Amino acid sequence: MSDPSSYPAMPDLSALTGPGNGGMEDEAWISVIQKMEAIYSDLLRYQVELEEKNAALENAQRFIDSVMSSMSDVLIVCDVNGHIMQVNAALTCAIGTDSAELTGRPYTSLFTRHSAPRAADFLQQVRQEAVVDVEADLQHKDGHAVPMAINCSPRLNHNNRYSGMVLTGRPLGELRRAYDQLNTAHAELKTAQKQLIQSEKMASLGRLVAGVAHELNNPISIVYGNMYALRRYESRFRDFVDGISGITDPAEQARLRRELRLDAMLKDIGPLIDGSLEGAERVNQIVQNLLRFSIPQQQETSAFNLHKVASTALQWVLRSSALSPALTLDIDPSLTLKNHEGYVHQILVNLFQNAVDAMETSPAPALQVRAVKEQDSVTLTVQDNGPGIAENDLLRLYDPFFTRKAVGKGTGLGLYISYGLATEQCNGSLRAENAEQGGARFILQLPLEEEV
Ligand SMILES: Nc1ncnc2c1ncn2[C@@H]1O[C@H](COP(=O)(O)OP(=O)(O)OP(=O)(O)O)[C@@H](O)[C@H]1O
Ligand SMILES: [Mg+2]
Repeated sequence: MSDPSSYPAMPDLSALTGPGNGGMEDEAWISVIQKMEAIYSDLLRYQVELEEKNAALENAQRFIDSVMSSMSDVLIVCDVNGHIMQVNAALTCAIGTDSAELTGRPYTSLFTRHSAPRAADFLQQVRQEAVVDVEADLQHKDGHAVPMAINCSPRLNHNNRYSGMVLTGRPLGELRRAYDQLNTAHAELKTAQKQLIQSEKMASLGRLVAGVAHELNNPISIVYGNMYALRRYESRFRDFVDGISGITDPAEQARLRRELRLDAMLKDIGPLIDGSLEGAERVNQIVQNLLRFSIPQQQETSAFNLHKVASTALQWVLRSSALSPALTLDIDPSLTLKNHEGYVHQILVNLFQNAVDAMETSPAPALQVRAVKEQDSVTLTVQDNGPGIAENDLLRLYDPFFTRKAVGKGTGLGLYISYGLATEQCNGSLRAENAEQGGARFILQLPLEEEV
């Protein structure tokens, strides 16, 4: 800012009022001189103010320039006709062209041939609504495309009238790179997760096989042991038969019989055969149980009576159980569903079996099975009065191989298979909760008519 003291001083006009000009004239001169002095000092003041404003303007301009040049987003300011008025350093850097070359050119010339038609719409579109994150490519001086996410907003003059638009663009290169990295990381995570699941499956399969092997081991060793004993007995009997062929004396025969301990063996044979049969029966049961978990072939849907299917499933379970719970079977006998009857049967067998297992130690076991018909579905609840299910377990019930039962007693596949059948094959749902009065409640929802 200039120092006012450096301005030329007001000339001394008093010399103009010389003697002999008369009193009236002097006064007129003095007033003229005073006015001129006042005007002159006003002028000086204006000059100072102007210079101050000018300096402030220059400061503001420098500030705007520094903000614009430090922006990482590109900035293009256009007039109403779409001619470039100003751009920032980020743009000149992004497309490798000087701002002096760009001023006055149509802004559409900044875009690639492919993006230019879309960019040409901005000028009209921005009058109605802001343009937000439109992907378009700027054209670099050496021909390559520079991908940007473009935003446009209208520019208003001091009368609030539309006077052009402002385009800003965020370089997409970095975003894309970050997105690609994220994608790769996600894919790697998925692969790792798959491997983890796979190894967990293998481990689970190992546990299942170990459980089954353990369970089969007992009856098979019994059968083996019994068969070896029977073979030994067989050779003694053969010795006896061979021995008595030359002996006619009954006393001698009896001695041989005693010596070979035939009577003790005879007493043993019955239990040995029973034990072997029992062992074979147990092996058969284990195999049947495993078969229960193999998902049957896709079945056709058919109309069936839910009451009947539930009763049969209940009989199946109770026949092989030592427990005789108090039963409530509250299903409308005329309720007919159209669904996969075999799958529904299999789900119910699993639910009933679990309930019966859970009530093993209940003082007065009671099982309630109820079906309520809704508009286009039926809700079947299976409720027991066992110990219920721990909160943590509620989330894992349907995991394959999740079991709280002793090795060989449960494989942990019952609910996993049932859930799959209910949701994927029967188009229904299956969930579990603890009943308020204790015990577990399983809720199976099925459509009245499953469309295939
Ligand atoms: N009614 C129930 N009350 C309490 N716990 C239950 C009940 N039903 C299931 N569970 C729990 O859920 C676990 C998983 O059940 P699931 O039927 O999948 O396997 P499992 O019965 O252990 O073995 P599997 O059915 O293969 O013979 C059970 O071990 C048991 O701990
Ligand atoms: Mg089960």
